[in-house]
Amino acid sequence: MDLELRTGRVHVEVTGEGPAVLWIHGFPFTGESWKAQAQGIPGYKHVVPDLPGYGRSAPLADGGPLTMDVAADVCAQTLERLGIARATAVGLSMGGYVLFALVRRAPERVRACIFCDTKAGADSEDGKKGREKFAENVLKEGPGWAAAQLIPKLVVDPAGPVAKQLQAMIAAQPAASMAATQRGMAARPDSTPTMAQVAVPTLVICGGSDALIPPAESKKIVDGIQGASYAEIAGAAHVPNLEKPDAFNEAVKRFLAEHGRP
Ligand code: MLT
Repeated sequence: MDLELRTGRVHVEVTGEGPAVLWIHGFPFTGESWKAQAQGIPGYKHVVPDLPGYGRSAPLADGGPLTMDVAADVCAQTLERLGIARATAVGLSMGGYVLFALVRRAPERVRACIFCDTKAGADSEDGKKGREKFAENVLKEGPGWAAAQLIPKLVVDPAGPVAKQLQAMIAAQPAASMAATQRGMAARPDSTPTMAQVAVPTLVICGGSDALIPPAESKKIVDGIQGASYAEIAGAAHVPNLEKPDAFNEAVKRFLAEHGRP
């Protein structure tokens, strides 16, 4: 369904019945990247938005950078409009940055957290420059360029079916959205202090072969959030939900069975 929010139109897929799980996608994906989870984890209401500028969602009405705060507000408003008081919130990579912002801005909406292949720290100065360069290049070269840059870093097998699926997904996203998101990610604050604010059950998941945001970053989140547990997915890189959906879903199901219900 489509929701008209203050920031523009947002498309959200809502499937299943039960306690809510909110799935926040990574960069530069769409909610489609969570299909194997929405279909493979029964007993929950899966709420899967396309963030502004991706999939079937309109770009931000003000044309500005997609900051993690704005994306978190979109997630909180989506839950509110659907009449969902609280959800287990799952964020992969950029989705994890958004989840930290959601914890700061609307903690009352978060029943439990699942951080996947993400990190708490902000970008270094070099990292910020790299994002600006990416933004300029993608505006010049187009989304196919972005796909070619990213895919070798996202998956264990860059010639396999998951790579092909990502290639099609990334190539279909507007270059302007990717530029706006790189600028928004560069502006994100350090979420290290936020870890102490996470007062709900937390699971951290990471692909064992993730070189983009390696398991060491995930382990910092485990250490920073009281009581957090950790699941490493063997044979997967940055998108374990796509590369090893069965192992990923098992870890999520175990956690949800214990913490995902009122
Ligand atoms: C993502 O997968 O969402 C991005 O790699 C995150 C980032 O660029 O930091």
